Amino acid sequence: MLIFSFISMRYSIFGSFYLKLEGRMIGRLVVIGFLFSIVYTAQAQMSKEYLSAEFHKDRREVLRAKMPKNSVAVLFSNPVRNRANDVDYVFHQDPNFYYLTGYREPNAVLVLFSENQKDASGSCFNEVLYVQKKDPLRELWDGKRLGIEGVKTELGFSVAKNAEEFIKNAVDFKKFDNVYVEEFSDDYRNSLVNEAEVFDLVTSFKESSGFNKMSIESPNVKYVHQIIANVPDAQLEEVAKNLALSFKKYPEFKKDQLISEYVDAKTDDLRKKVKHKIKIEIATRKTNLDFKFLPTQLADMREVKTKEEIKLLTKAIRISAIGQIEVMKAMKPHMSESEIQGIHEFVYKKYGAEYEGYPSIVGAGNNGCILHYIENSKKKVGKDLVLMDLGAEYRGYTADVTRTIPANGKFSPEQKAIYQIVLKAQNAGIEVSKVGNNFWEPGAKAKKIINQGLFELGIIKSVDESHGYFPHGTSHYLGLDVHDPGNYRQFRHNSVITVEPGIYIPEGSPCDKKWWGIAVRIEDDILITNEGPVNLSEEAPRTVKDIEDMMARKSVLDEFILPSLDD
Ligand code: GLY
Ligand code: MN
Ligand code: MN
Repeated sequence: MLIFSFISMRYSIFGSFYLKLEGRMIGRLVVIGFLFSIVYTAQAQMSKEYLSAEFHKDRREVLRAKMPKNSVAVLFSNPVRNRANDVDYVFHQDPNFYYLTGYREPNAVLVLFSENQKDASGSCFNEVLYVQKKDPLRELWDGKRLGIEGVKTELGFSVAKNAEEFIKNAVDFKKFDNVYVEEFSDDYRNSLVNEAEVFDLVTSFKESSGFNKMSIESPNVKYVHQIIANVPDAQLEEVAKNLALSFKKYPEFKKDQLISEYVDAKTDDLRKKVKHKIKIEIATRKTNLDFKFLPTQLADMREVKTKEEIKLLTKAIRISAIGQIEVMKAMKPHMSESEIQGIHEFVYKKYGAEYEGYPSIVGAGNNGCILHYIENSKKKVGKDLVLMDLGAEYRGYTADVTRTIPANGKFSPEQKAIYQIVLKAQNAGIEVSKVGNNFWEPGAKAKKIINQGLFELGIIKSVDESHGYFPHGTSHYLGLDVHDPGNYRQFRHNSVITVEPGIYIPEGSPCDKKWWGIAVRIEDDILITNEGPVNLSEEAPRTVKDIEDMMARKSVLDEFILPSLDD
């Protein structure tokens, strides 16, 4: 899912604006009038309620214990991303980096060693956090930076250095058996604002680690090279034929010169020659860089939440559920989708949530059929069902709660019929969200009930008809990311998932018109425990009766009337 954030800006009336290009201060422009400057959330000014330094340290120790001898893990912070001209998106830390460090500023690298290393003076260390350096001018504009000292005192790192050091005194990565790194996302931008932003740190790492010399191919291509290198002589032709058949599904195979050559070879002698070439290619591209270890291990760790994490996640979820309650009370047919979004988000801010965990989805009627509808531009919700999928992000943890309610406070018979099916499917999904059950079980249960329900209403012709009325999965993990990483195998104690079945009947669907434009999703956030599922978002009403009762209540916003600006 694409995550767009609203930019947070401040302006000054008589501002001084510095431009720094290629490392040199080249100009100071005094701008009279309104000048916008970016504020990424400065960690040093923020609340203390975040995860403790001990939490992050413990996570690093768990990861270190999984690393084989003589290995090193290298994780980069997120970069600052540009929105337009001199305005950037609000900075958001990479969740894996945050999980291991607690550092919430850009332009940083964590280097984690499996064993103690010795510095020039003989002191031992097994990790270094390289961070952006203190800079009074940038801090005047953008907020305080932790700097080396802050990282030591606030985050408990015993060795911290300015990020420039990562470039000037690069670690000798070649001497390690394994260098664990995450895939580079290619969206690092060289903004030339300083000499050690993530762009420069990654560039330096690619050079010092030998990454630039590696031939980078898709893992599938590498896998096929391995297969060809090991194919027995008796099967040379058969493998070539099978590979030719796979070209349509995997166009990258055809594009790979060696695979193409193998497939095009007309005799076993020629095939043997290509096989030999591939063996040499594999032998010469040996590298100690490993892109799989970190995502795999961190997914495994992040799937199961600690007590500290559950506390923050529960708060994010409760804030979001209370947002749903306030909207149920306030909703009126004359309201717009964006006004409804604003009420949710106002509640989030009132509780001190930093952001939304993902762009808020408020879709009335047919708009609800667009699964990630974020335009939220309909002027009047009228009598439609309004699908509201929103989540507050609180101290890094995001909720993901959906309620679907009738704009006028009463479900029509058709809306109610569809709603009841989804609710039944959701309850069945929640019920099987139990330790030891397969991750996909809630989805299978929900799908069965939805198919049965659609069949009974005559919307599909048979229970096993393939249809597009429930086109998404039922569950995902939840945490620092809205779609959090995990193993997607058996449910484990203290993991948190969503259960979110839906039925979407867009206009023009092959069924009676009376169903058109009805979209229902109900989404709750479920803590899986040894004692059974706990619905962390249960505060937000879910049954038809509870929703209608809540919507009949008064809201303080009933009195909140602004002057009209329409001509
Ligand atoms: N809000 C995105 C999702 O439900 O997965
Ligand atoms: Mn979800
Ligand atoms: Mn959602």
